[in-house]
Amino acid sequence: MRLSKEFRDQFIQHEMRTHGRKNGFVTVGQEARLLKWLPVIGLSKERTLADANLPSGAPIVMEIGFGNGDFLVHLAKTHPDWMLVGVEIYLPGVAKAVCRLDDVGEIQRCRITQLPAQFVLSNQVAEEQLDGLFINHPDPWPKTRHHKRRIIQKDFAELMVTRLKPGGFIKLASDKADLAEWMRDVLDTTPGLSNVAGVGGFIERDADRPETKFEQRGNKAGRVSQFLHYIKA
Ligand SMILES: C[S@@+](CC[C@H](N)C(=O)[O-])C[C@H]1O[C@@H](n2cnc3c(N)ncnc32)[C@H](O)[C@@H]1O
Repeated sequence: MRLSKEFRDQFIQHEMRTHGRKNGFVTVGQEARLLKWLPVIGLSKERTLADANLPSGAPIVMEIGFGNGDFLVHLAKTHPDWMLVGVEIYLPGVAKAVCRLDDVGEIQRCRITQLPAQFVLSNQVAEEQLDGLFINHPDPWPKTRHHKRRIIQKDFAELMVTRLKPGGFIKLASDKADLAEWMRDVLDTTPGLSNVAGVGGFIERDADRPETKFEQRGNKAGRVSQFLHYIKA
């Protein structure tokens, strides 16, 4: 089975670069589940969260760059009242997460998109629509000349703030010390955000957090992950 051009045009794009990914693949079984579920829970380019059939009043929490879905599945299991929006540009990751959310019976509470987070937040999410945002182990882009590709930038931080409700949160993790400090420095100076740990601080690791693939990778390499928590004033 191959995904048709029409299906790809609606739900899939491949243009954004991602750090250190080899071309993955999507199995025939995964394709069948993408075909089944993306028309139901996929957020295609022309739709917005407002027309994604979310129950009114339910908290809406987004994870950006969910990878294989480790953390998204954890959120779905531990927060049965949240509607979850998963954003991930890496198609094999989207395929794995869709299968895992389907396997645990939580997929109908999720909306999934393979579009870049910058597009999603700018075009598909309204102002003050989100209750929370998670970004775990974003791509590090370690070379100085590539720092501009890091997802946490001043403009993106300001965009996130506009999409959060007052009192909404942003939680981030990184196993790369320089990236963790970069994210902290950008977010500490973003108007409207307050660092729960105080300016310059990191929070303790949440006790119930699962280790995502990239946290495990960091652990194996001897790196200690750092965690950030911000609240929109
Ligand atoms: C280093 S991986 C971390 C994956 C997962 N969060 C974890 O902790 O294992 C970063 C992920 O962010 C995704 N990503 C990078 N840029 C993105 C963007 N602009 N919008 C959505 N996802 C993005 C990548 O495809 C990749 O899967």
